Amino acid sequence: MNEAKSNESEREALIRWRSDTPGCGIRVHLNNAGASLMPAVVKDAITAHLGREAIEGGYEAADAQAPALAAAYTAVADVIGAAARNIAVVRSATDAFALALSAFDFAPDDVILTSSDDYISNQLMYLSLAARRGVRVVRAPDGPMGGVDLRAMEELLDRERPKLVALTWIPTNSGLVQPATAVGALCKAAGVPYLLDACQAVGQIPVNVREMQCDYLASTARKFLRGPRGIGFLYVSDAALARGDYPLLVDMRGAEWTAPDTFALVEDARRFETWESSSALVLGLGAAAQYALMQDAAMVTRRAQALAAQARTRFASIRGVRGLDRGEQLCAIATFTVEGRIARDLVLALRERGINTSSQSRGDAVIDLTRKGAETLLRVSPHYFNTEDEIETAARALEKLLA
Ligand SMILES: Cc1ncc(COP(=O)(O)O)c(C=O)c1O
Repeated sequence: MNEAKSNESEREALIRWRSDTPGCGIRVHLNNAGASLMPAVVKDAITAHLGREAIEGGYEAADAQAPALAAAYTAVADVIGAAARNIAVVRSATDAFALALSAFDFAPDDVILTSSDDYISNQLMYLSLAARRGVRVVRAPDGPMGGVDLRAMEELLDRERPKLVALTWIPTNSGLVQPATAVGALCKAAGVPYLLDACQAVGQIPVNVREMQCDYLASTARKFLRGPRGIGFLYVSDAALARGDYPLLVDMRGAEWTAPDTFALVEDARRFETWESSSALVLGLGAAAQYALMQDAAMVTRRAQALAAQARTRFASIRGVRGLDRGEQLCAIATFTVEGRIARDLVLALRERGINTSSQSRGDAVIDLTRKGAETLLRVSPHYFNTEDEIETAARALEKLLA
């Protein structure tokens, strides 16, 4: 954390966060699990570079900003306890996850060991690999409180000898936090590669790849990290780089064409990148990472989770609203089903009243929402810059809508 901010009280920090964030004065933004509000410094980094591209030329502007672009990789790496050489900047978390999966040469009957709560697009990728490559998808059962049962995971690692363990740390559709660190330790002990989707975790809870012991970690910029849309990143461990892992379809950014029939991979994680990318968005991602690094991480996590806990209690007190979150550890995502109402309609009605939330339907999380008996859910995801009053405002608005 920045020295200058280390003595700041939570109240002082809140005032600063809100004045750093123009959107705070305009809307009650409780959709940080969708896309958070960018601080002004992030927007400025992006627009300034677009301005330079228009005047100097896109390639020339990128050359001129080479040190700032390099600093963006370092900042992203610092957020997750890695080094810049381990970071590939890609289009999204989904892109990052797919690139990591593509580094494994799956053969028929190879097992991907995962969970029931993995993100929809990840589940679709596993199923696609099952259909195309004959992979077997094994989902570790949940424990009694929700979240994967670690004992079952350990047994499955032993019995199935999976080619890969893939886990979504915080699923998009509930407040659950999976025991991702413990799963990392099990994978390490079993010698099985570990791919972690940390899309909802980065910027929300402390992330350290050394503690996670993961081979790969996929994330996006726009959620709790507060970066722009359209960009994400993949962490590739030194072990994966040393093994010679690379994506199925490598690009000229990732390798050198050494002779008509040979190529040589670049040394670092950029072997997972493609040549074309938006320098403006990379700078925006870098600014978001630098902004995150300047905050008191413990305060950030504590505040976001306390606001979600407030929402969980307050919303569930409204007639017809049922809380859906289960798990030993819960996070800054609170989910509800509302009797007789389609959540998307409520989201639109709240939006008209200046309140941003989001909704999902059963198809977004088939296993979880089926067992919870919910066709649709309303998702409230505060961040540290939200206030207790904003949670109350949203709850009152919902109360009125349902009256
Ligand atoms: C847990 C999780 N993983 C992955 C993704 C996909 O992220 P992106 O849209 O950046 O590909 C999301 C998006 O909501 C998510 O919540």
